[in-house]
Amino acid sequence: MSEPSKIIRSRVAGVGCYLPERVVTNAELEQAVDTSDDWIVQRTGIRRRHIAAEGETTSQLGIRAAEAALRAAGLTGDQIDLLIVATSTPDYTFPATATQIQFALGMDQGVAFDLQAVCSGFVFAVATADKFIKSGSHRRALVIGAETFSRLLDWEDRTTCVLFGDGAGAMVLEAAEGDGTSKDRGVLTTHLRSDGAHRAKLYVDGGPSTTGTTGHLRMNGKEVYRHAVGMVTDVMRDAFAATGTTAEDMTWFVPHQANRRIIESSAEKMGIAPEKVVITVDRHGNTSAASIPLALCTAVADGRIKPGDLVMIEAMGGGFTWGSALIRW
Ligand code: UT7
Repeated sequence: MSEPSKIIRSRVAGVGCYLPERVVTNAELEQAVDTSDDWIVQRTGIRRRHIAAEGETTSQLGIRAAEAALRAAGLTGDQIDLLIVATSTPDYTFPATATQIQFALGMDQGVAFDLQAVCSGFVFAVATADKFIKSGSHRRALVIGAETFSRLLDWEDRTTCVLFGDGAGAMVLEAAEGDGTSKDRGVLTTHLRSDGAHRAKLYVDGGPSTTGTTGHLRMNGKEVYRHAVGMVTDVMRDAFAATGTTAEDMTWFVPHQANRRIIESSAEKMGIAPEKVVITVDRHGNTSAASIPLALCTAVADGRIKPGDLVMIEAMGGGFTWGSALIRW
């Protein structure tokens, strides 16, 4: 009888995260715009957000998160051969924030590049890194979600400025052997989608080739909300179908942290028990591509996520973009 064939899996070797020091509470925002702690908590679940200090950049946040993830993995930057930074708030138009971080970490081999899928960026970056690793071309990937969304906000627009915050999270993925079943440890499946028909519902009204300015975030929140639950539950179903698993098999649901009501509706629609849902949006608001690794980092640090657990991550954001990844920790 022939031996069952082995496949390459991208296994999680460590996660890390970083939030800037300055905390802005809902009460502080009440002083700046016509809003209330009650409204923000009831509509979104957000209680506070962290805002980068003047001069503190996306790459600096990303470096702190990456260093923590490398420490958790017992690795140093020179052992990484693929670095992907998911961000919509790069330090500069170019070079990529990823190459800034590559240099700072002493990663003197391989390749580093940015990826832009707004709030879905981390899921897109995990899927991309997984495909590189599975192809055999790269062995150790550092995937970072890092954002300074505070720099894109119109601080006079109460419909958006209360929702977002700054932060960064990172994950190290390492090539490992698997049997090709859902019992393998590592990324089991990824599902990415986009639909540009929705591009005007959530966008930034500036850029190098339009206004020549950075611009401000503009969102039709109701429209985004209307599509969010259906889109993320679609790609979660795809992940379960591709792996022959169910919501019952899943240990932890770690969604993009934009709005507590979207998270709870998605979990309910999928039949996910509330105690399996990791929610951190109350502590840092919507940090776009950084939100999932921030939530993962929290749930690993407090002992919830353990080796062998089945973890679903999903996100939806500007574009629209949306996606899921099912990971055996
Ligand atoms: O990461 C992916 C991207 N983003 C999202 O996932 C966000 C998706 N959307 C949402 O989370 C929600 O739509 C929001 C939290 C943005 C808004 O919640 P909503 O329940 O859809 O409220 P709404 O937009 O229908 O606004 C209700 C009312 C309006 O007043 P009127 O017109 O009913 O008199 C708003 O003007 O709330 C008002 N409002 C506010 N009131 C106090 C809007 N923003 C605020 C505010 N404080 N900050």
